[in-house]
Amino acid sequence: MQAKAQAGANIALVKYWGKRDKALNLPAVSSLSMTLNAMKTTTSVTFDESLSEDELILNGRLQEGERVKKVSKVLTLFRKRAKLERFAHVETENSFPTASGLASSASGFAALALAASAALGLKLPEQELADFARRGSGSAARSLLGGLVLAHAGEAPDGEDFAIRQLLRHDEWDLAMVVCMLADEEKTTSSTIGMNHTAHTSPYYDAWIHHHEADIQRAQAAIEARSFAALGAVSEHSAMKMHALMMAAAPPLIYWKPETLRLIHEVTKLRKRGIVGYYTIDAGAHVKVLCRLADAAMLKPLLEKVEGVKRVVVETMGEGARLL
Ligand code: PMV
Repeated sequence: MQAKAQAGANIALVKYWGKRDKALNLPAVSSLSMTLNAMKTTTSVTFDESLSEDELILNGRLQEGERVKKVSKVLTLFRKRAKLERFAHVETENSFPTASGLASSASGFAALALAASAALGLKLPEQELADFARRGSGSAARSLLGGLVLAHAGEAPDGEDFAIRQLLRHDEWDLAMVVCMLADEEKTTSSTIGMNHTAHTSPYYDAWIHHHEADIQRAQAAIEARSFAALGAVSEHSAMKMHALMMAAAPPLIYWKPETLRLIHEVTKLRKRGIVGYYTIDAGAHVKVLCRLADAAMLKPLLEKVEGVKRVVVETMGEGARLL
């Protein structure tokens, strides 16, 4: 009744923002991401009949409230599937800052899903595991797979056609992500609250949905052709569209800090000088720069110099979630 799993964070190159079903946590748009190698979550799950409720220890601290509720919700899906009523003790560690826009919920819920299914001896098909991981965090399903991953939003009301698919394995393209971390405080608006607020109040939300599939197609074509410049361009554009629609919400939702904008300008300037990277930003202020592995060592010290940047880590593509 015990298992341990590990999953890498993932960074979306074509973003998901918005939900088509809140209860099932179904994304309104498809997304495409890179699974990371070193930024990861390790989670052990033990179903224990002596427990009277689920217990969550995150980075050594016993958790209460919303976080435990979310974990319980996902564990209950597994309990129902296994026809077992037994609470679980969950211990989870992130190798990077939690809840600050660095995709800790993605790696967290992917590792939780894999560990919970193994602890219960369930041999679930990949898509079902993806459904369960997604219920905890929309982007978590993508962290089950390695390399470049597509999460197809689907249209079915019950989410039956939501699906994840690996587009390239981690060793099929020498891409890297230079992760520029700013002060590691937790974000003030969770992505779920931010998405709902944006969907209800941003006049650009419909346009975002309308143009999204074309970005997915463009990114897939770029990956097939191994065109780094084309993938970088569509990825930067997707991130900026997402942030523009958040900023047009009422009241505006601004995840950026002054350092975020400084990094955007620096990456653009360096690219003009032939040091090629493409920035992307999630529901937090950190900036991640997509580049070729060969250029990462050159980009790192240049981005470290940008005022306000606390730490820069070069990430490669990871293999996806696995049992330990
Ligand atoms: O996984 P969630 O529901 O916390 O949302 C993630 C949203 C973004 O990171 C901003 C975009 C994405 O596709 O990962």
